[in-house]
Amino acid sequence: MTTTGVRIAGVGHYVPERIISNADLERMFDTSDEWITTRTGMKERHIAAPNEPTSDIALAAARNALANAGLSAKDLNAIIVATVTPDYMFPATACILGAKLEIPGVPGFDMEIACSGFIYGLTVAASLVRTGVFKRVLLVGAEELSRMTNYEDRGTAILFGDGAGAVVLEASDTDCFLAAELGADGQHPSDLFLPVGGTAAPPISAEDIAQKRNTIHMNGREVFRFAVTKMIEATTITLKRAGIASSDVAWAIPHQANRRIIEAAAKRLDIPTERVVINIQNYGNTSAASIPIALSETFAAGKLKDGDVLLFVGFGGGLSWGAVAWRWSTQRTAVSGNVA
Ligand code: ACO
Repeated sequence: MTTTGVRIAGVGHYVPERIISNADLERMFDTSDEWITTRTGMKERHIAAPNEPTSDIALAAARNALANAGLSAKDLNAIIVATVTPDYMFPATACILGAKLEIPGVPGFDMEIACSGFIYGLTVAASLVRTGVFKRVLLVGAEELSRMTNYEDRGTAILFGDGAGAVVLEASDTDCFLAAELGADGQHPSDLFLPVGGTAAPPISAEDIAQKRNTIHMNGREVFRFAVTKMIEATTITLKRAGIASSDVAWAIPHQANRRIIEAAAKRLDIPTERVVINIQNYGNTSAASIPIALSETFAAGKLKDGDVLLFVGFGGGLSWGAVAWRWSTQRTAVSGNVA
């Protein structure tokens, strides 16, 4: 088996233009900017236009990541899209994205693991490069959770936004993948789920729609408790596997679900908040897109230095969770080569 290293060659993101602010939500139901800010840290979320499917926002993020890498779509060997809001139930949004990137024939598949999608996707994509299966893989976390949000339910409507973040992974002499820990426990899927639309329920009926069963249902308190516990556990295992201490982490880039969840986990992990990337105020929870959007913004702000250790950590529906320790490398090496 061929083995090589892997590095992130480029990052990019895109969010739709339309914004829903806390003031907008105050006009929709009984809530307040003060409540939302205190309980979640959120101020605004971006919402896709009706004619802007997930593949479109994924395309914009992918183009930005390719430009950042100095590559063209033709340099890619595979596409992975992490999403729970695909264009269709099937085919995979990655196939549609491949067509929009004008690279027919390049393999593509989706990964559906909710907000853990980028963590799982990064682990899979890095493994495909490290084992020599592909030299360059595009990984996009792209979500339009607004499409499955009940804007009459103040417990969930405040949380979600749309957006996409992308990374281009490529073979490298330096191995930037340090360690990972992934987990899932499907014993209580209804803690965070979409009740209808799959095979566990009859085809969606008018009554389902009237009862809003075609929208996200969540046990917020239970998810909160689980999130803090699992972020700490996954991080501790990952750092141990990588042989590094939390003080070695230059930037923790967590899934942006709730500022209080992030701060509680960071405190227990002894990672100072100055080294934790939080942009939840601008985007809300964009599920599988939140980590790559935060990574892309951190890069754009000039904060990533060659050799920095990054910690990606997240959780989501499943319930699922995971963490990846990653070294940031700006060095393109000969092994990346040219893709035939
Ligand atoms: N505005 C005002 N009051 C509200 C709102 C709102 N938007 N939402 C709920 N409340 C009220 C409740 O009705 C309740 O009132 P009561 O005490 O009279 O019954 C009170 O506020 C407290 O409600 P809680 O649910 O206990 O509030 P909590 O502090 O837990 O915050 C929240 C709720 C923000 C949802 C929190 O539980 C949370 O963030 N949980 C995790 C959610 C999460 O991370 N989801 C991940 C999704 S990832 C994926 O895979 C899609």
